[in-house]
Amino acid sequence: MAIFAFDASHSLGKVRAVDTRRVNVQVNTDEDLRKARVGQLVALSLPGAIEEWLIGIIEKVIKTPVLDEQEVLPENSETEEVAAVLPRESVLNTVQLTLVGTVGLTIDNRPRFSRSLVQVPEIDGTCHILRDAQLQAFMNLLSAEGRTDHSLEIGRYTIDENAKAYLDGNKLFQRHASLLGSTGSGKSWTVASVLEQASKLPSANLIVFDLHGEYRELSYARRLRIPGPEELGKTDTSLLFLPYWLLNAEELQAMFIDRSEFSAHNQVMAFQDTVVAEKKKTLEGLKKTEVLNAFTLDSPIPFQISNVLKELERLNTEMVPGSGGKDKQGPFYGQFSRLLVRLNSKVSDKRYGFLFQAPDGEHRYDAMAEMVKRLMDYSEDKAQIKVIDFSEVPADVLPVIVGLVARIIYQVQFWTDRDKRRPMALVCDEAHLYLPKKDGKNPVEQRAIENFEKIAKEGRKYGVALLIVSQRPSDVSSTILSQCNNVIALRLSNGDDQATVKRLMPESLEGLMDTLPILDIGEALVVGDAVLLPSRIRIHPPSEKPLSATVDFWDEWSKKPELPDFAKAVENMRRQNRA
Ligand SMILES: Nc1ncnc2c1ncn2[C@@H]1O[C@H](COP(=O)(O)OP(=O)(O)O)[C@@H](O)[C@H]1O
Ligand SMILES: [Mg+2]
Repeated sequence: MAIFAFDASHSLGKVRAVDTRRVNVQVNTDEDLRKARVGQLVALSLPGAIEEWLIGIIEKVIKTPVLDEQEVLPENSETEEVAAVLPRESVLNTVQLTLVGTVGLTIDNRPRFSRSLVQVPEIDGTCHILRDAQLQAFMNLLSAEGRTDHSLEIGRYTIDENAKAYLDGNKLFQRHASLLGSTGSGKSWTVASVLEQASKLPSANLIVFDLHGEYRELSYARRLRIPGPEELGKTDTSLLFLPYWLLNAEELQAMFIDRSEFSAHNQVMAFQDTVVAEKKKTLEGLKKTEVLNAFTLDSPIPFQISNVLKELERLNTEMVPGSGGKDKQGPFYGQFSRLLVRLNSKVSDKRYGFLFQAPDGEHRYDAMAEMVKRLMDYSEDKAQIKVIDFSEVPADVLPVIVGLVARIIYQVQFWTDRDKRRPMALVCDEAHLYLPKKDGKNPVEQRAIENFEKIAKEGRKYGVALLIVSQRPSDVSSTILSQCNNVIALRLSNGDDQATVKRLMPESLEGLMDTLPILDIGEALVVGDAVLLPSRIRIHPPSEKPLSATVDFWDEWSKKPELPDFAKAVENMRRQNRA
């Protein structure tokens, strides 16, 4: 059976120039040129092959007026006779395309599409437009190839709404992916669409970093939440406290120590010494001999921050015997005053309560293993998708806190027995908020970003994948973005962001990238090894929608609701509790 049956109505023109993947086709008539649209697919015949075609995507459609060099415009061209004998302005119609693969027959005579280019087209070979029955035949082929037992159905192709578009679920996560698009372009819905399908797999393992609480009501997900000020005393199983002792030395210091201070060096030394001493005390109390021999300042071992405060307080006011029997000020006298103020105010601030005011149970030695199980378990009902709501975390520590959770997950994965390790994916929504470009960032943020950069670079070895979601790709760490092998690009209106996405794409697809600002809501360009073809895909809306983070101002202003209790809000502010 023939794969394609082209007739004159499909013919577009003849190949005029070939430059590896780029092909120029000369189109004879304006009428033929009108068949061509950017993004459309074409088939090129191959020399000597009957059932083998190269497939290309139209990148540019150009009509160039060419003036005949010998043409001399007469002084007086009013009479019809004169105009008739003059050489006419001719046009050069060209279509520029990028080759994306080959259609051929398998040994057992089945048509198949592959991304490899077996041959280059020959000059003067015919170029056919793929449309109607021919397009259908090709798209069916594509759908059938794309549909495997590890594929996820993401939507339908824009050029043929009947053809289902599949992503290769292995390849999508194997080498990280990014999902980029302006606000309101459909990122959160796309995430939900992917989560929904993953949730049906018995041991899927995805963790969503939810910055606005958009995914908190998905019925198939386990909900975890970093507690806000008014949730501190509660014992809700969905609350995820992150006791301060989980922070490593850099992260802890970054929270408290101001490097610009004259005594910063002494502060760091004294702080580290007391923390180590406290951790040691814990381990001795628990008789953890093996850990005692190996632990470092960075090890996540519970300790009492109040004891650290007491010790620093002591050093800060210490008097030592001086000459002549009189006491003099100790070596650190007064040096920690500001540090102590900072420490005390952080420790008692309820907004940081999830770090410093966790219930006693969270400070047990075994609490960390229990917390990790809540994060990384996939065996229980709804545990395949875990949504962590970070909406109550203050912005100044957001990168550290998100980075901390990512680091814990990665390290636990690293230290899990190789044969027991299970692949997992971190879905980083609103990544520009905590994975910004590093330059100009303070050391705290840099440290946090490095946690993710490490996962981006080495996660593959240990089965940790990233799905980076952002509306501001130009602000996201380029080290991380450039590690993402698959890009799902929704509508992007900002020029810098478009340029960033273009840089992530193969050079030959520039024409396709030019459609970024005109994509419909929920429509995406998908490029990478998870799709057979770089394609424009209309993404299926998820059946359970994420909550919208957008406020409809005008609609709200059109109502006449009761006034909020401002006095109560002011009082809430003072007592740091909304309840
Ligand atoms: N795949 C889609 N199909 C149809 N409409 C969509 C789709 N994705 C998003 N939308 C519409 O766009 C709105 C914004 O989508 P959302 O995913 O919240 O955008 P983003 O996360 O990019 O800001 C949704 O409320 C919905 O009305
Ligand atoms: Mg969103």
